[in-house]
Amino acid sequence: MSESFRDALNLAELEPLARAALEPMAYDYYASGADDERTLRDNEAAFARLRLRYRVLRRVGERSLHTELLGQRLEWPVLVAPMAFQRLAHPEGELATARATGEAGTVMVLSTLSTASVEEVVAASSGPVWFQLYVYEDRAATEALVRRAEAAGCQGLVLTVDAPVLGRRERDVRNRFHLPQGLKAENLHAAGYEQLGADASDSGLAAYFASLLDPDLGWEDLAWLRELTSLPVLVKGIVRGDDAALAVEHGAAGVVVSNHGGRQLDTAPATIDCVAEVAAAVSGRAAVLLDGGIRRGTDVVKALALGADAVLLGRPVLWGLAAGGQAGVTHALELLRRELEQACALCGARSLAELTPELVTRRD
Ligand code: GLV
Repeated sequence: MSESFRDALNLAELEPLARAALEPMAYDYYASGADDERTLRDNEAAFARLRLRYRVLRRVGERSLHTELLGQRLEWPVLVAPMAFQRLAHPEGELATARATGEAGTVMVLSTLSTASVEEVVAASSGPVWFQLYVYEDRAATEALVRRAEAAGCQGLVLTVDAPVLGRRERDVRNRFHLPQGLKAENLHAAGYEQLGADASDSGLAAYFASLLDPDLGWEDLAWLRELTSLPVLVKGIVRGDDAALAVEHGAAGVVVSNHGGRQLDTAPATIDCVAEVAAAVSGRAAVLLDGGIRRGTDVVKALALGADAVLLGRPVLWGLAAGGQAGVTHALELLRRELEQACALCGARSLAELTPELVTRRD
């Protein structure tokens, strides 16, 4: 096994390094899925069930990974997914991730539950930052969060809709997951919701969700959010075409095909198995993104071929962060970018537009 993150040849090799660097409670929080973790495993396994029917003699000497997403030009179609409490992984937390992501020419999506403030994160990044939003029962506090994200310079809002209650992550229940002394949800001070204590009987995050977040969200709340802000709103946590169509009808600029990394409803389908249905329902009216299980450049190719405009990378970024701080995140992103370049060439694609559905077939 490699000793340093720089020796990791692929994203999978970063995970054991991160595990060795992390407190068990932090590793479990990041690694875990809900219940039996079937969806967590299936997100990756479903990519492995697909095969790429590559084209040949396509003159791939000049290739580009550039893309446009919501009017923003990105160097390549991989964004960094929102992930909470990144100072559990490394003292520089979200700031290190922001620096590395900006340098990699793509978007960082910052979690509501970040351990660095949105202002600091936007200042640290040389690229675009989007803000992932949880809606609190306290709508004034929610509106204040949106205003803060706007004022800080965030360029998009990503509304998470798959978490009316928190999924039961048994590892977190067992560990009584909580934030160690000194770490807080830095965007929530004004509202007084920054503390995440240990609950004697449960995960501290589950207790936080149950006491503060709004389980009663409906489609009209998306309309409310659209009224509130001129930022593009993406709806994250969709696995069905009918919900994707509703999101577009309620003004979403994009949908994120996501099951929250297998952390919410266990036995939800793998995201790669949902993306074609969602893309068909959206039919070019909004951007389609996907997260969950991306570990190889070929996974990105499959997602884009089946209809995604871009994907988000989650846990491997945290593994890079834990194993090597900013340089570890850079390494993770660079590994995936190189793999994607190679996979496009080997598929006979000179640009992302040439990644089309007939490239993909099922193994069985
Ligand atoms: C937070 O959003 C989590 O899924 O743990």
